[in-house]
Amino acid sequence: MVPSPVGSAERHRQEGRTGSHQHASQAALPMGADKAKLVRQMFDTIARRYETLNTVMTFGMDRGWRRRCVQALGLQPGAHVLDVACGTGDLCRELARQRMRATGLDLSSEMLRYARTPAPLVLGDALAAPFKDGAFDGAVSGFALRNMVDLGDLFAELARLVRPDGRLALLDMSVPDNPLLRAGHRLWCSYGVPTLGAALSDRAAYRYLPRSLVYLPPPEGIAERLEMAGFAAVEREPLSGGVCQLYTASRRPRPRRWS
Ligand SMILES: C[S@@+](CC[C@H](N)C(=O)[O-])C[C@H]1O[C@@H](n2cnc3c(N)ncnc32)[C@H](O)[C@@H]1O
Repeated sequence: MVPSPVGSAERHRQEGRTGSHQHASQAALPMGADKAKLVRQMFDTIARRYETLNTVMTFGMDRGWRRRCVQALGLQPGAHVLDVACGTGDLCRELARQRMRATGLDLSSEMLRYARTPAPLVLGDALAAPFKDGAFDGAVSGFALRNMVDLGDLFAELARLVRPDGRLALLDMSVPDNPLLRAGHRLWCSYGVPTLGAALSDRAAYRYLPRSLVYLPPPEGIAERLEMAGFAAVEREPLSGGVCQLYTASRRPRPRRWS
């Protein structure tokens, strides 16, 4: 699938489905500090079997999505890339496969404990990351956008961390446009994921995770936040019929000073 700029055509197309884009119930999902606490506790709880469940629940498609995410950075071998909310380090490993240098950052000490990557891993909050301005050539993130308390704050922090002209590639789940796929997706999220989660890991977490899709703004909202934070050339690429989505963008060069 060819990436498309998230411009007016995409915006109009999405406007018609913004409401139903969020097919999980909005009821009783936490916000602010409550959300941050729940997210950290939940990932601490499910860390041990997180990767296995990911593979099962995405029918192994997550591997291809991660490959595409790192390719879409378009950075040279040796580039230093931050894996934001790296969890158990899947994207760090993919970055290494594509000969880039990864550093991982995550809020959950248990996710980091189960990580299988030689990359340096840092325990911390992506909204106040302990790195210098412009420290990275790029940043990636896998399935973490909907877990953040504030996406605008996350993108502002990424704009601080990524050097001018550096690159961003962000993956998250999505709802397919095609009505048949959409119906199947709804069934899978409502019944398949919680049932498998209960059998193999934690029922509450795997009920929450599909519902947490409602936190994600529609594509034009994400593009707007990225642009406001200092990114340009924002593109969105639906993957696997739209069950997953990839956003890419470039850090705008700093404005030239005329003195
Ligand atoms: C769905 S997991 C994704 C893990 C990994 N990126 C992957 O591709 O499998 C979401 C991760 O986001 C982390 N996370 C959520 N909010 C965070 C924050 N504010 N700062 C850092 N990590 C955060 C969680 O601890 C969890 O490990």
